[in-house]
Amino acid sequence: MVSTLRTDQRCPNSPAANTVARPARIYLSAPSAGERELNKIKKVIESGWIAPAGPHLDKFENVLSDYFDGKRVLVLNSGTAAIHLGLKLLGIQPGDKVICPTSSFCATTNPVLYEKAIPVFVDCEIESFGSDPDLIEEAILKESTKGEIPVVILAMHNYGMPCQMKRIQTIALKHGIPILEDAAEAMGSKFEGQLTGTLTDFGILSFNGNKIITTGGGGALLLQDDDMYSKALKLATQANEVLPYYHHITLGYNYRMSSVAAGIGLGQMETLEERVMRRKEIFRMYEDQLIHEGISFFQGPKNVESNRWLSLMLIDQTKMGFNNIDLKRHLEENNIESRICWQPLHVQPLYQQYDCYENGNAKWLFESGLCLPSGSGLSDEEVGRVIQVIIEYMK
Ligand SMILES: Cc1ncc(COP(=O)(O)O)c(C=O)c1O
Repeated sequence: MVSTLRTDQRCPNSPAANTVARPARIYLSAPSAGERELNKIKKVIESGWIAPAGPHLDKFENVLSDYFDGKRVLVLNSGTAAIHLGLKLLGIQPGDKVICPTSSFCATTNPVLYEKAIPVFVDCEIESFGSDPDLIEEAILKESTKGEIPVVILAMHNYGMPCQMKRIQTIALKHGIPILEDAAEAMGSKFEGQLTGTLTDFGILSFNGNKIITTGGGGALLLQDDDMYSKALKLATQANEVLPYYHHITLGYNYRMSSVAAGIGLGQMETLEERVMRRKEIFRMYEDQLIHEGISFFQGPKNVESNRWLSLMLIDQTKMGFNNIDLKRHLEENNIESRICWQPLHVQPLYQQYDCYENGNAKWLFESGLCLPSGSGLSDEEVGRVIQVIIEYMK
């Protein structure tokens, strides 16, 4: 059977991880869990709620709500589902235009296609690698002249780094367009002291295996009020009407999180701060020990705090004589996983028919950026091995 598991989602303790007799594999962003999560799962099973419903979901939502300054939180079975429901709540219709970042994972844009709406891609700005506010405005103005005013701006925090949200909000407000905030990678990051995911009326998180916290696959919608929560919950549970029998008026989805997953999430939330701190420490270790002419590390704007979900190294090929693909290959030979920055979505076959407002930054990032192992479960020795392998290669 061919496994569809992304390698960065595989737990380092799984049997497949260590079958070759060479240094143990170092993963890009492996999940870490233990006794804490086992105990929570045990409680879920003992309670009988082995289902996508019940008090464990409420509990996980309340814990998340407390963390996210009182936002109403709906937990779901993926971040992609959260984006999809966010778009539904915002009333997206077939043929609507949605501003999407070209430098992102496909999941930011795919729900736009699920709804037969049309992505309008924008390139990123160089400070945060989030969508360039100037290009967002250019796209809105150009699309508006065609009579196709975009209905939603999808703003994403790339690699955990908050995007230039204040400037994007100013533009959004000016043109009356709502923002859907994709904070899938940015749990624990802050923009001017405020947690990402809470910066707009609609935020999403991902708890996939490679994220800051995991539920073994899952996500959440962060909403303003009970009304939005109820609407989203209904859509996430097949849009059943409240009647003594099943009755459907609108199309719904099976997007609710399972209680077992919520149990894992409850365990993970207890160590969220440590996880974020560790990612930041790992970033600093790379930065301190790998700094070199031709090598730099993604800093980000002054007014933000990144959770450093992935440590992003930028390679100037003209100075170094090698590029990100060469280094990735070398790391792989040493059993170390790394990842090339996102290939711009608008050049990929699935999306190339859609317009992109470009400045060349996403292409440059794709050609120069390499994400290094960043999981909060990495030991100093493992980070040291990555650094050593890179230093040897630089020589
Ligand atoms: C930027 C971004 N958006 C959305 C998602 C989708 O999340 P999920 O994998 O939980 O569906 C991910 C991650 O996987 C992501 O990195």
